[in-house]
Parts: sequence; C-alpha cells; structure tokens
Amino acid sequence: MTKLRLFALLLAFAPALGLAAGGGPLEASGTDLSDRASLQRGAGLYMNYCSGCHSLSLHRYSRIGEDLGLTQEEVEQNLILGEAKYGENIRTGIAPGDGNAWFGKAAPDLSLVARAKLGGADWVYSYLKGFYVDETRPMGWNNTVFPGASMPHVLWEMQGIQRPVYGESHDGAAPHVEKLELATPGRLDARQYDQVARDISAFLQYVAEPAALKRESLGVWVLLFLAFFTLIAYLLKSEYWRDVH
Ligand code: HEC
Repeated sequence: MTKLRLFALLLAFAPALGLAAGGGPLEASGTDLSDRASLQRGAGLYMNYCSGCHSLSLHRYSRIGEDLGLTQEEVEQNLILGEAKYGENIRTGIAPGDGNAWFGKAAPDLSLVARAKLGGADWVYSYLKGFYVDETRPMGWNNTVFPGASMPHVLWEMQGIQRPVYGESHDGAAPHVEKLELATPGRLDARQYDQVARDISAFLQYVAEPAALKRESLGVWVLLFLAFFTLIAYLLKSEYWRDVH
C-alpha cells in the first residue's frame, strides 16, 4: 500500500520534478491557452513545418477556424497547404509507406501527443529545443528528450545547430549529454526560438484537448458568479440576523 502511494505521489509530481520518461529533464514551456495570437502562430508554424509528415486526424480545419477566431478564408489561405477542404480532417502529404522508408519509422499522428507524453506541452517544448547533431544517427540528429528519435530537426534553420557537451562517464557507461551548445547560430536568437517552440507546443496542447479553451474561459465566469453569490448570501445573512439581534 505504502509503495503504491509513493508511486502515485511520484507520478503526480513527476512533471514538476522534471522527470521525462526515458529522456532528460523538461523545461517549462510557459504555454498560455488564453493567448490566441500564440495559438494562431502555432497553427501556422505547425502547418508549414510539421504537417508534411504528421497528421492531426482527430481535428478538422474548420474547428481550428472556429476555436482560434479565424475566418474560413484565412484558414484556407494560411493553414491549408494541399488540396484539403475546410471541413476535412488534417492529414499529411506523406503516404505511410514512404515515412517508413525515409525515416525507418512512420511519423505518428500528433492529435493527442501533448496529452500522451508525461509533461504534456513541456515535453513537446523541450523536444523541439533538444535536437543536436549526432553523426551516428541515420538522419544525423539526436534528441535529449527523446534519445534515438528518427525525426530530423526540421526547425534547425531557425534555431541553429546544437552540439552536445558530454559529461564524465562512470564505470564504462555510455557518455551522457550534459548540455547543448549552439555551434552554428540560426535565423532566430534564443528568445525568439523559444517563442516558436512555445507557440507550437501551445497549439498541440489545444489540439489534444480543444475543450480546455472553453473550460478556461468559463472558469473566470464561475469565479465571478461565486464572488457575486457570496455577496448575496452575506447580505441575506445580515438581513435575517438583524431581527434576531
Ligand atoms: C520529415 C518528417 C517529419 C517532420 C517534418 C516532423 N516530424 Fe515529428 N516525427 C517524425 C518521425 C519519423 C517521428 C517518429 C520518431 C521516432 O519514433 O523515432 C516523429 C516524432 C515526433 C514526436 C513524438 C511523437 C511520439 O508519439 O513519440 C513529436 C511530438 C513530433 N514528432 C513533433 C513534430 C513537430 C512539432 C514538428 C514540426 C515542427 C515535426 N514533428 C515535424 C517525422 C517528422
């Protein structure tokens, strides 16, 4: 029983402790689902840099339009890159077989990835920041959060190229990556790239649970109602007790 409790406790606090399954520690993404501009930028970045390989098969373009406050025209002009229709689900341009042949692995659907990974949006954020060159890997890239990932660093031209700095290895264990160093600067500085990674992570967080947008905006009204109701209850109580006193 105590062991089970300890495990449950550990699981509950794992994201806070920065434990990522199998990878290095996670960085806080700082995503904000009420920041509509961030979600819109994230959607644009996703369609341009990710949707070529990854589908979002549980999500429709029209839903993105409605949720993120974009008109059908804006979605069609900026977010739909192929032949897809406004009401269709978001598929990729790659046939599943090609993905296997090119990367040794098909790129998975990302509809739920921000919920499936321990750490959620923080995992995605740290993953997008964790790519480094590794000549031993088939694509030439490795990742601190997802070691051995077969995805190339598709945003390298923005972030630049990072090289690993290895820590001391003990007892003949494989050397571990202690930190990453920017070897070749990219088009963006570190702060701008963080924002890019944050926008994409926020977009995937929204996609994984679209209802969260409504829930968060509803929450404010619930709190306002409670405050209002408390006031009414207090006035009522004073009114009743006036006669008693
Ligand atoms: C060139 C194709 C390609 C592009 C473009 C691409 N990915 Fe990937 N991605 C992959 C492959 C292949 C994997 C599977 C890696 C593995 O399991 O080894 C993957 C894995 C992932 C995973 C982990 C999924 C899981 O279930 O473990 C995430 C998250 C992810 N990609 C996000 C992105 C984001 C965000 C972008 C855009 C910035 C992007 N990818 C662009 C090919 C791609």
